[in-house]
Amino acid sequence: MDYSNFFSKRTNLVTASFIRNILKAAKEPGVISFAGGLPNPQTFPTEELQDILAEVGKDKAAYQYDTTEGYAPLRKSVVEYMSKLGINADINNVLITTGSQQALFETALLFLNRGDRAIVEEPTFIGGIGPFKLFGFESPNSDNIEGIAMDDKGLLVDELESRLMILKNKKWQMPKFVYTIPTFQNPTGITMCEKRRKKLLDLAHEYDFLIIEDDPYGRISYEENVPKPIKSFDEEGRVVYLGTFSKIFAPGYRVAWVIAPTEIVAQMAKLKQNIDLHTETFGQMVIQRYMELGLLEKHIQEIIPFYQEKRDIMLKSMDAHFDKGYSNWVKPKGGLFTWITVQGVDTLALADLAVKKYRVAFVPGPAFYLHPDVGGDGMRINFSYPSNEQIEEGVIRLANAIEEERKKAFEETPTMI
Ligand SMILES: Cc1ncc(COP(=O)(O)O)c(C=O)c1O
Repeated sequence: MDYSNFFSKRTNLVTASFIRNILKAAKEPGVISFAGGLPNPQTFPTEELQDILAEVGKDKAAYQYDTTEGYAPLRKSVVEYMSKLGINADINNVLITTGSQQALFETALLFLNRGDRAIVEEPTFIGGIGPFKLFGFESPNSDNIEGIAMDDKGLLVDELESRLMILKNKKWQMPKFVYTIPTFQNPTGITMCEKRRKKLLDLAHEYDFLIIEDDPYGRISYEENVPKPIKSFDEEGRVVYLGTFSKIFAPGYRVAWVIAPTEIVAQMAKLKQNIDLHTETFGQMVIQRYMELGLLEKHIQEIIPFYQEKRDIMLKSMDAHFDKGYSNWVKPKGGLFTWITVQGVDTLALADLAVKKYRVAFVPGPAFYLHPDVGGDGMRINFSYPSNEQIEEGVIRLANAIEEERKKAFEETPTMI
């Protein structure tokens, strides 16, 4: 039976991820995977949770419907947690969501009409691109969601400003929002400097747009002096901040939060009622108890050195085995990723060779762009999931794969006569 006539037009706007095959191959035995973005299961606090699970398991409220905005004591705990990062909010500014992925879906649903302009830093999180296309694009080739490049200090805000000036002069529609992951970004590991954070806020004020600040990794910080969230500088209510327990606790719980002005929280809650009524009560109660007992802070202090060791091994191995003549990579100050660029190499072809012949997987750059015909020389490397030994071995394999692919690319280049 052919079902294609039944599917909405919207469905065609999200293309099945072309990295699916790589991720599938990454799971084959013998393949070392730098491809996923998963927290390491060794960090999951299964033992520490036993008493809490038993207690919540006996509480009938955990089995009942709750309010759409979220379990009130958890919203209160989130307010306290946020205040430590310099974000002042009250409980009415908090919406609990089913993962930050849902918050991204709601952001797109709430703000974007078809054809509306929005801007993302590029490369960016695949899960942001999906909903923005789903609700903002008219066709798969639409260009109203635009990318602005980054350098090692994050989004190029001067380039953004030039673009905004052009849009204004031509009287074209201004962006409704700019989406950014300013701290230890997925996919690059880059952190936006404080000056740019403040400039972005100034631009938001001047050109009247919102900022969607997605911050799943900010607490996983290996160095001092990491800039505070953009939201902490936001006096006007321009920033919608997305936080999640996925990387600092466990993604299987699917509990995350939005901090936003009350009008936005109210609209998002209205949408959420149509999506899932509310985020599961049981998980919210477990996490709230975990926070109340001070265990989340303790846990974060434990996972930081665990991941930092992996980052250090990754960087040391890359330093030892990659050719600096044509490869560059980000030295992330936190988070779970680094990003390599290799001049003259098509990372899509490299990914194929790497996984089939060298048994090492990563996600090629084009996956992180709005229109995947760019970003070809970049690749995302995850270091949170593989073991320390796998990181060392995987880097050697990857270096060999790069060498072979580069030679091939060089041989294939036609002479300019
Ligand atoms: C930048 C970014 N935003 C959002 C998410 C989604 O997180 P969650 O598990 O809370 O849905 C991720 C997950 O990897 C992410 O990297």
